[in-house]
Formats: sequence, structure tokens, C-alpha cells
Amino acid sequence: MRTSPAARIYRPTPRNLALLANVLAGGGIVAAPTETVYGLAADARNAKACRAVFRAKGRPANDPLIVHVNSLDQAGEVASINDAARLLAKAFWPGPLTLVLPKQPGVPSIVTSGLDSVAIRMPAHPLFRELIERSGCPLAAPSANPFGYISPTTAAHVRDGLGQRIRYILDGGPAEIGVESTIIDLRNPSKPAILRPGSISREVLEQVLGRKVAAYTRKAPAHTAAPAPGMLERHYSPRTPLNLVAKLAPGFLRKLANNEAVLFVHQPKLSQPAPNAFWLANHGDELITAAHNLFHQLRILDSGGWKQIHAELAPGTSALALAINDRLSRAAAKRALA
Ligand code: TXA
Ligand code: MG
Repeated sequence: MRTSPAARIYRPTPRNLALLANVLAGGGIVAAPTETVYGLAADARNAKACRAVFRAKGRPANDPLIVHVNSLDQAGEVASINDAARLLAKAFWPGPLTLVLPKQPGVPSIVTSGLDSVAIRMPAHPLFRELIERSGCPLAAPSANPFGYISPTTAAHVRDGLGQRIRYILDGGPAEIGVESTIIDLRNPSKPAILRPGSISREVLEQVLGRKVAAYTRKAPAHTAAPAPGMLERHYSPRTPLNLVAKLAPGFLRKLANNEAVLFVHQPKLSQPAPNAFWLANHGDELITAAHNLFHQLRILDSGGWKQIHAELAPGTSALALAINDRLSRAAAKRALA
């Protein structure tokens, strides 16, 4: 009888890192921390290993993976690097910036969903870098969650979602940033465009490139070959219905049934304690704290037995506000974008 694997969480000892790097080099799959969210990694050159990643996540084949590299040389083995990519890599790598570039022939088509472009980034997390280094593999890694559910920012989140579908989880503590990388399309370096908002802003990308970068739009841009899937309207979603509100007044709480919860961005000033009030950051904290806590709080709310969650959008137009609001909007969306 076949039994499904039960995941084990590995502490980042040198011995465990050697073991997990071997698993990867041998075509296995390993969940591991990055500075943004946890990823489910496989050797990007091994189509069979990458297929196992799609299978474990229940991810549709038309949703391409991001390939993680450890050096610009390795990036060049995966993608065709242009001057714009070199500039951005120099400024932001290692870090939460993913570049979409023409792919090299050696990248199996399953990784790119048959597109002739590939998404690559050099992560900043030392443990993820060490897995790339020790395994000798560029690592394809989507977020380590069942497709469509809230992204994981701890090893326990990964186990909660994929614990019966994978064997190996490397524990690196909570992911520092908490929202996925900014993705920029550089296939045509004279027409760069944001494909997914993250913590690196369009404005700083424009400064480094010395040219305009097209802002992110919720609909897939016309020049995108296939609907790129982080572009799915419904994504990052809790099972509990989620309702978005531009700005929540503390008085909003009084109007609710007691099985409805409220997620504020910042801790509200309440006249009395409210068990159904939650927040992403303390009063006066920066949005960096709110982004760090976003997916964790959504998971807590989703397992809290609430009938409905009302969430407030982050204020302003900073990169993190756009990233948080993008994730909240997709989490609240009712359907996939056609
Ligand atoms: O921060 C991150 O980027 C995390 C960590 C693990 O690195 N990874 C991540 O992967 O968010 P994932 O699979 O959840 O999102 C990858 C998204 C796809 O859904 C798609 O939108 C975009 O990257 N993508 C990948 N390849 C692409 C391509 N060739 N063209 C356009 N978009 C692409
Ligand atoms: Mg994802």
C-alpha cells in the first residue's frame, strides 16, 4: 500500500543542509525559506523534479515557476541577460526582485509553462543560497503552499498546507519580508513593465534603469504571451469569505455580528477590548511590519471559525502598500481572471 509522505521539519544544521542539498541534486523537492516567503524547490534543469513541484502544489501547468540562482554566471545559464538586467541585478541582488528575460534552451518547458521567457531571481536568504550552492542546481521554486491558498511565511505554514505531499521542510524561522518579490518584465529592455508588485518600488527601478517602467495593472498586459498566473484574479485566498474596506473606522466593529472579524492595518484605538479585532501592525509601525505579518494574520483569521473577515486596505501608494493591497484584493476576489 502506498502511503503519502509526512513532512519532517529540518533545523538548519550543516548536516541537514548537506542532506537537503543532496535530495535536491538527486531530483527531490524541498521546501525552504527565502526572505519573501517559503519556496518549494527543485532542480530547475530537471523536468521530472519540477513536475513533482506542480503536482505537490496542485498548480496548473500554465503557471510558470521562478528560477533562483546564486550568481550572475548561473543566471546566464538560465536566461539571456541584457544590460537592463545587469543593472538591476547589480542594484538589487541578492534580494526580492525577479527578472523576466528570454530563456536559455536548457530550461525545460515545464518550468516556463512553454513560454520562451523565464523568471529569475537571486534570493537574499543565506539558507536558500546555501542550498543552491551545495546542490549545484539553479532552483525552481514557487511559493510552498497549495495552489491558490495563502502563501507560507513559516515552516509550520508549509507543513499545514503540504505536510502530506512533501517530505522535506527546512526551517529558517519567519520570512523577513512576508510578501513575494517584485516581478519586472525585461524581455524588451526598452519597455520594462511591473508584472507583480513587491517591496521594491517602480520608482527605484526607474531610477536605476534611467527610464520609465510601466506600472502594474491587475489585468495581464497585452504583450504577455499567456495569462501569467500570479496574475490570476483569485489567489492567496483564505477559505473564509473576505470583504475589503478602503478604511475602517473603529465604530465599524459595533455594527458587526460577533462571528465576523475585522483586520485593521494598524492597531485601532478601541474604547473597550474587542475579541474580533485584529491588526497587522501596532500603532505607529511602518508598513514593513504589516507586510511581514500579512499572510500569518490571514491564516490565523482563516482558522478562527469566523463567518466573514472584513479587511482594511493599506494606506498610500508605497511599494508595500501596493503589494499588500494586491494580495488582499486577490484574496478577496471571487473568481479567476479569464
Ligand atoms: O518571492 C518570490 O518570488 C517567491 C519566492 C519563493 O522566491 N516565489 C514566488 O513564486 O512567489 P510563485 O510561483 O508563487 O509566483 C511566480 C510567478 C508566476 O505566478 C508568474 O506570475 C510569474 O512568477 N512568472 C514566472 N515566470 C514567468 C514568465 N516567464 N513570464 C511572466 N511571469 C512569470
Ligand atoms: Mg505563489
